[in-house]
Amino acid sequence: MVLSKTASQSDVSIHSTFASRYVRSSLPRFKMPENSIPKEAAYQIINDELMLDGNPRLNLASFVTTWMEPECDKLIMDSINKNYVDMDEYPVTTELQNRCVNMIAHLFNAPLGDSETAVGVGTVGSSEAIMLAGLAFKRKWQNMRKAQGKPCDKPNIVTGANVQVCWEKFARYFEVELKEVKLREGYYVMDPVKAVELVDENTICVAAILGSTLNGEFEDVKLLNDLLLEKNKQTGWDTPIHVDAASGGFIAPFLYPELEWDFRLPLVKSINVSGHKYGLVYAGIGWVIWRSKEDLPEELIFHINYLGADQPTFTLNFSKGSSQVIAQYYQLIRLGQEGYQNVMENCHENAMVLKEGLEKTGYFNIVSKDEGVPLVAFSLKDNSRHDEFEVSEMLRRFGWIVPAYTMPADAQHITVLRVVVREDFSRTLAERLVLDITKVIHDLDALPAKIKAKMSIACAQENGKDNGWKKTAIETQREITDAWKKFVLERKTNKNKIC
Ligand SMILES: Cc1ncc(COP(=O)(O)O)c(C=O)c1O
Repeated sequence: MVLSKTASQSDVSIHSTFASRYVRSSLPRFKMPENSIPKEAAYQIINDELMLDGNPRLNLASFVTTWMEPECDKLIMDSINKNYVDMDEYPVTTELQNRCVNMIAHLFNAPLGDSETAVGVGTVGSSEAIMLAGLAFKRKWQNMRKAQGKPCDKPNIVTGANVQVCWEKFARYFEVELKEVKLREGYYVMDPVKAVELVDENTICVAAILGSTLNGEFEDVKLLNDLLLEKNKQTGWDTPIHVDAASGGFIAPFLYPELEWDFRLPLVKSINVSGHKYGLVYAGIGWVIWRSKEDLPEELIFHINYLGADQPTFTLNFSKGSSQVIAQYYQLIRLGQEGYQNVMENCHENAMVLKEGLEKTGYFNIVSKDEGVPLVAFSLKDNSRHDEFEVSEMLRRFGWIVPAYTMPADAQHITVLRVVVREDFSRTLAERLVLDITKVIHDLDALPAKIKAKMSIACAQENGKDNGWKKTAIETQREITDAWKKFVLERKTNKNKIC
């Protein structure tokens, strides 16, 4: 029974939340309200507004985990009040992070002796991990140049133009020139030959991506390593490699164990991976692992003792939550190698179902590769009547969030749609998505004829009134938008009728 007496000053605890005065007037948006409100009302107001966010499970734009087991959700909630930096107070949490670092280092074939522990740290995501790895390369290079009596004020880093924005941030924030290898139509990753050509004495490292953000493709780290070894031999330089394995770091070891991309290659000195992507943890965790102690300059490590014993730290932030570290440890021991392999195989198979379904429609070119991150990137074969942005927009009607974007230089004329297949994207959803994409294309095909018909009626009516009247571009645009809106509304009504 709803208690809905609406006395404005009444106590919310005995009246329906929606009839209380707290939800009947709006809160100031940008200023803190003067008075307190009951917790039920605060919860309801926020919860209601959040309903307008997209559904994370249908957000196919993101690589980041949107589902974990309830047991892990419980561990996360149980540790939500622990500040990770209080290592002396929470020594078990610190121990769990160290176990994760070591497990991941072994997964990446770090050359560790039996009693040796790995060098690495948990971060907020791959972005922080990349900042730390980049800083270590910069400092090492500067130290070397100073020791040689050479200038060290113009460091650069070589990457493909397909790098994620965090590399551009690193370059700008830490004053390192970004030298990008351009892409070309049909080739959307860094060409190792061109990358090595760009290397000079000021190059602090070449960054290769294991799982390009744009199409999931793995860059050829082995070839890069071999070419760079050759160049180093010729020039006397010692240019190293960093592997940005944000997505691929938890995929390659399970799906392609023979692929050499990690510390098996001598020039790979550090690797980052996002725990919150295919590491299968909710947003907020990444890892960076160094090959050895020598690859992380000692002067970048801070030692703090005011929280208890001496604690070395190398992170950009001081405080952060513990939950994600604990959740990563849960996944590593809960799934083990067997479980990760099952999840990755399943994601790959679902990506193939989606890819084949899209190919069968006859409308799309597939831009992703079968080997790589389980995602499908695809372009319209014919975008003369409608483009990928319209397909993306129309898919929202069904709840799907599928991004459309243009490729970077020199392939900026290519637009793609991308569906990331995560653990919680089942076979049924993959098949359903193909059906919905097909419907969207049919609707878009029908759209111009409808709009044209409506516009010619409107024009005829207007011309009948006043022959001298000419529409402005804005007026025409408005008409198209109105016709579009009506069309979508009609479709919705018909759909509801069918349901
Ligand atoms: C290749 C690559 N590197 C780095 C990042 C940044 O990762 P994070 O979101 O974990 O900071 C991403 C994110 O998608 C990525 O795809």
